[in-house]
Amino acid sequence: MTFLDAVELNEKRVLVRLDLNVPIREGKIQDDSRIKAALPTIEYIRDKGGINILCSHMGKPKGRFQDELSLKPVAGRLSELLGQDVRMAPDCVGPEVESMIADLKPGDVLLLENLRFHSGETENDPEFSRQLAKPVDVFVSDAFGVVHRSHASVVGVVAQAPVSCAGFLLKKETEYLGQALLNPEHPFVLISGGAKVSTKLGILSNLLSKVDRIIVGGAMANTFLKAQGYATGTSRVEDDLLQDALQIISRARESKVSFYLPVDFVTGHAPDARQPSGLYPFQDIPEGEMMLDIGPASHTLFSEILKDAKTVVWNGPMGAFENPAFSQGSFGLTQTIAGVEGLTIIGGGDTDSLVHASGVQDSISFISTGGGSFLEFMEGKELPGLKALGLY
Ligand code: 3PG
Repeated sequence: MTFLDAVELNEKRVLVRLDLNVPIREGKIQDDSRIKAALPTIEYIRDKGGINILCSHMGKPKGRFQDELSLKPVAGRLSELLGQDVRMAPDCVGPEVESMIADLKPGDVLLLENLRFHSGETENDPEFSRQLAKPVDVFVSDAFGVVHRSHASVVGVVAQAPVSCAGFLLKKETEYLGQALLNPEHPFVLISGGAKVSTKLGILSNLLSKVDRIIVGGAMANTFLKAQGYATGTSRVEDDLLQDALQIISRARESKVSFYLPVDFVTGHAPDARQPSGLYPFQDIPEGEMMLDIGPASHTLFSEILKDAKTVVWNGPMGAFENPAFSQGSFGLTQTIAGVEGLTIIGGGDTDSLVHASGVQDSISFISTGGGSFLEFMEGKELPGLKALGLY
């Protein structure tokens, strides 16, 4: 894989694929971490005398223009962060955009409009890729969040651009996640949480042969408990995955991997309940109660398991953390992980939000900008966006 620092950039028009898919409510950006993560690449290109032509998707507009999925608010935030005017193009391809690009000077930054306003993007249409590459000299792939997508601006454009390389965020992501996957220091602890076992089977299976300990929390844990015959009240359970859950537990045993589930739960009548209705040991969940957060004994147990960890990978909260009534377990674990001395890696939107809401982001070794791509990378899958750049 060629990286940005090996490419001549002076006076070159550089198309940079970023993941600027940030949460926006009523025109206001709620979390700008993905924009900040893109800055080193943009600044490097600018400082080397290159012309930044930035592109990204936003949401899933399915090939038609939607004002609420415009990247305009992102251009505003980029201007503030870069301390220079970032111009906004009305589209991402076509004669008007090409003439805007032709007028740019070294050091200028232009943001193209949402790539997914064209269906050619998600279809990886060669003609759309050709149009994207037409006005530029160099293509830089730096959108780790979409490397699992076979889209035109991720895959097709690589073959069309005169020169293609990976940016600094892609480098950092693949180095950190690659280290955990290929060369982890031990003890290595995987913490898997969130709502669904179905989305985590891949990462659990792939990391089973590499980790020493697995902690499962969040609604996922309910499925593992029910599979072993425990009552789970009205808690969310994936009944079709009970066998898979048992298989994970038995594979862990065979591989001598210690497998931990919460030992107590904070319960409520519904995820949006105003307050918890009880605290119960895992074997005593009453009928009519929902397990919505891990309890204090689970937190103590998990802290003990993490104490001497040299590598920690965490994806998915421990409970319904968006509701303050059920957020203590997730926030408590965030503080514990911030105190771990080894390499700590966090991935996925919810876990990222938790860490930022706790204010401990600077104590985490690496927070991945990927959601689906983070999981697929950790599942050991070959990702099309990385394959196109020659990683495999
Ligand atoms: C994300 O938010 O995980 C990335 O931007 C990818 O978005 P997508 O799931 O719409 O492809």
